Amino acid sequence: MASETRSGATRDYTLTVVDDYALLSALAADAVSETLAQTPGAALTLPTGDTPLGMYSELVRRIDAGELDFSQAQFFCLDDYLGSTPEDEASLTRWLKTVFLDPARVPEANVHYVPTAAEDPVAAAAGYDREIAHFGGLELAVVGLGPNGHIGFNEPGSGPDDPTRIVDLQPATRAQSAAYWDGKADIPAQAMTIGLGTILQAKRIVLIVSGEGKAEIVHASLEGPETTDVPGSFLRRAGDRLEVILDQGAASKLEM
Ligand code: GLP
Repeated sequence: MASETRSGATRDYTLTVVDDYALLSALAADAVSETLAQTPGAALTLPTGDTPLGMYSELVRRIDAGELDFSQAQFFCLDDYLGSTPEDEASLTRWLKTVFLDPARVPEANVHYVPTAAEDPVAAAAGYDREIAHFGGLELAVVGLGPNGHIGFNEPGSGPDDPTRIVDLQPATRAQSAAYWDGKADIPAQAMTIGLGTILQAKRIVLIVSGEGKAEIVHASLEGPETTDVPGSFLRRAGDRLEVILDQGAASKLEM
């Protein structure tokens, strides 16, 4: 396994390009371990999707081995479909429970679900940001990158000051989401996501991206202009609080 940390004259953030997915997953897990070693009760958010699966297996392994204590962490789910509950098969919260929260035995009291089924979801979304603030703000946000540049479900059109809120999902995003359930799930047209503005306030932000299929959107996010067309392009505003971890495929269209 090998990794290369690239330095760039115009770059404040850290860019690490790894040779394989196992190392990407281990480095992302290291960010979680370091955060909780420093601040056991830290508020953090981790993403859903294919990319973080390796990170979650590694975190569960570390917890089982007694190398990582997750018992005090405040886990804030990143995003979910509007109206969905953890009982719905196609719910990202349910996905998270299956993949991580249950195997890692994260105490239920420390898990904060995106209030997608609240009676007044607009007010509840604002309340979710207040809850994050109550726990001191996000100590760590690990995020992936959607094929259209979305972060969480901050779809194109999202800006760097956006709070946690309800968003419309693009047809391509709904199709991408349905693929997590073999294309059989009926994905709602709207979702609730932690806002890009809330994510950008995190003390440490780790972006993980894998595969050549994302190379173009990685290039647009890291080397293109800041634009609401590519929400990932705003992550650079975090400066040295941002760490980008890519595999060779995802990094293959970067110019430096
Ligand atoms: C999903 C999630 C995001 C995730 C992204 C990339 O729709 N809402 O949080 O980071 O899209 O997913 P993947 O890792 O499967 O490519």
